[in-house]
Amino acid sequence: MTASGTHGRAIVARLLRRFRLCLAFAAAPGCSAPAQTDDVSLDHTPSALVSLPTPEALNTACEACHTAEAAQWRDSLHRDAFSNEAFQRSFAREPKPFCQACHAPHADPSQAPLTWAAANGVTCLSCHIEGEAVRAAMTARSMAPSPHPLARSPEFSGAQACAGCHEFDFPTSRRHAAGHRMQLTLTEHARSGYAELGCADCHMPAIFDDTGRHRDHRFDVSRNPPLLRAALSASAERLGPDKLRLALTPVAVGHALPTGDLFRRLELRVEALDARGERYAGATRYLARHFPARPRTGPASRRPDPLEPDDRLTTATGFEMVAPGALAEHTLTWRVTYQRVDHRDVHAPERSTLAGEVILAEGELAAYEPTAYEPSADAPGSPDGVEVVARGQTQDED
Ligand code: HEC
Ligand code: HEC
Ligand code: HEC
Ligand code: HEC
Ligand code: HEC
Repeated sequence: MTASGTHGRAIVARLLRRFRLCLAFAAAPGCSAPAQTDDVSLDHTPSALVSLPTPEALNTACEACHTAEAAQWRDSLHRDAFSNEAFQRSFAREPKPFCQACHAPHADPSQAPLTWAAANGVTCLSCHIEGEAVRAAMTARSMAPSPHPLARSPEFSGAQACAGCHEFDFPTSRRHAAGHRMQLTLTEHARSGYAELGCADCHMPAIFDDTGRHRDHRFDVSRNPPLLRAALSASAERLGPDKLRLALTPVAVGHALPTGDLFRRLELRVEALDARGERYAGATRYLARHFPARPRTGPASRRPDPLEPDDRLTTATGFEMVAPGALAEHTLTWRVTYQRVDHRDVHAPERSTLAGEVILAEGELAAYEPTAYEPSADAPGSPDGVEVVARGQTQDED
């Protein structure tokens, strides 16, 4: 968010001037060192005033020199943050200037974004600009001098590089007291077992190719089924004719699973199949941030929303589920699905419309036979002999 709003645009304008100087005099002293003060004399030359470049021109310059990062960014959801269909549908329902601050940070929030800002969403400038320099990690990747000022800091390799956009409040209103988080990935990360790692350690792995070493700029997660499947280890056991226990463990996830947008959720589903393979009983449960329905009328509606229960996965957890009416001789199937909810139905979550979903794991539990072999007096309900098939379960869990 460093480049959003009026303040952000002023910074970009100053940086643009600086860049023109550096690009024109690539060897000039000061252009490879952290930003100094504005070069006032050159800033006021007529040429700088006549053709002040735009964020578009500056971003195009970044892309021209850093082709590997640019190629990945062009295909990323960061670049598509405003133009992608899921956002567009949601923005059409709720066209608030507030949304544009992150999804089209180069636009004036009070106006419909101009073509370039709408098509380029979160740009190189959105993440990389600080004051008049380009933010970078502490360690230079090569000995080659940079033709522009760099602001190197340890923070840029940490969660702080992603703050502002990935943790923020609802706009304060009667419903939402100040401090009510709309997204809270940084808080979740700080509470997780991975708080020592930066977001980039997981989301921007180092890549070595013919352009040399660079960090992955694709940020491809919610549309990447193999990555999502690898993030969950799941197994199930049958506890009775109509009852099973799902054991779910997030694998190397540095925050809640799922995190991010407030409508993301995991669907846990169990179904009983009769001898012909047809479903006759079942149950569904959602792991999500559960925003309760608002009271419709009367004085109660003036109160803030009630507390929001949140049962998203943060650690290994067991879930018992019952499919009422299921018979011991029939198969039980189970499934865990990652869902991006498009339009939420508060009263019937199963009727919410989805923007997309990925099955993370599923399996079948054969007929329940507690006394099949040598029933033991210690464990009368022992589920031995139960067959567990879990597609999507990963072996490489480290
Ligand atoms: C005229 C070419 C040119 C332009 C334009 C340019 N860069 Fe660079 N940049 C370089 C060179 C050369 C280096 C130093 C060698 C290297 O790391 O590639 C560098 C270094 C960097 C680094 C530090 C790399 C490290 O060692 O950690 C970052 C980050 C960076 N540039 C980002 C940007 C961004 C963002 C933009 C646009 C605002 C931009 N650059 C515009 C050529 C350019
Ligand atoms: C200027 C604001 C901004 C900054 C800074 C920012 N992001 Fe994002 N990020 C977004 C927006 C907006 C989206 C959502 C795009 C969409 O789905 O519409 C997003 C999406 C993502 C996604 C999800 C992609 C998916 O597949 O759903 C990941 C992962 C991500 N960002 C990681 C990061 C990390 C890591 C950092 C810090 C290095 C970072 N972001 C910095 C605004 C930002
Ligand atoms: C969502 C935020 C984000 C966006 C958008 C982004 N970068 Fe980066 N970039 C980073 C972070 C964070 C690092 C440093 C990671 C580290 O080394 O810890 C980085 C590293 C770099 C580097 C250093 C070399 C490397 O790849 O390791 C260059 C050069 C660079 N980015 C250029 C660009 C350019 C050019 C664009 C636009 C085409 C861009 N970045 C868009 C966050 C971003
Ligand atoms: C230990 C590795 C790790 C760290 C650290 C980490 N993430 Fe993730 N992240 C993942 C994995 C794995 C997923 C896919 C599973 C999921 O969706 O939660 C993911 C998913 C996401 C998503 C997609 C939203 C969703 O859940 O559908 C966003 C956005 C995101 N991370 C942002 C961040 C940010 C911002 C940080 C730093 C504050 C961060 N991550 C730190 C591993 C990590
Ligand atoms: C402070 C920054 C910020 C603001 C303000 C913001 N968002 Fe987002 N939004 C994000 C980030 C970051 C993500 C990515 C998280 C993830 O991948 O789960 C995101 C994701 C989304 C998604 C999921 C898109 C997808 O690709 O699946 C939708 C839809 C969305 N936002 C709609 C909105 C709407 C509508 C508003 C205004 C009411 C809004 N956002 C305001 C930062 C913001």
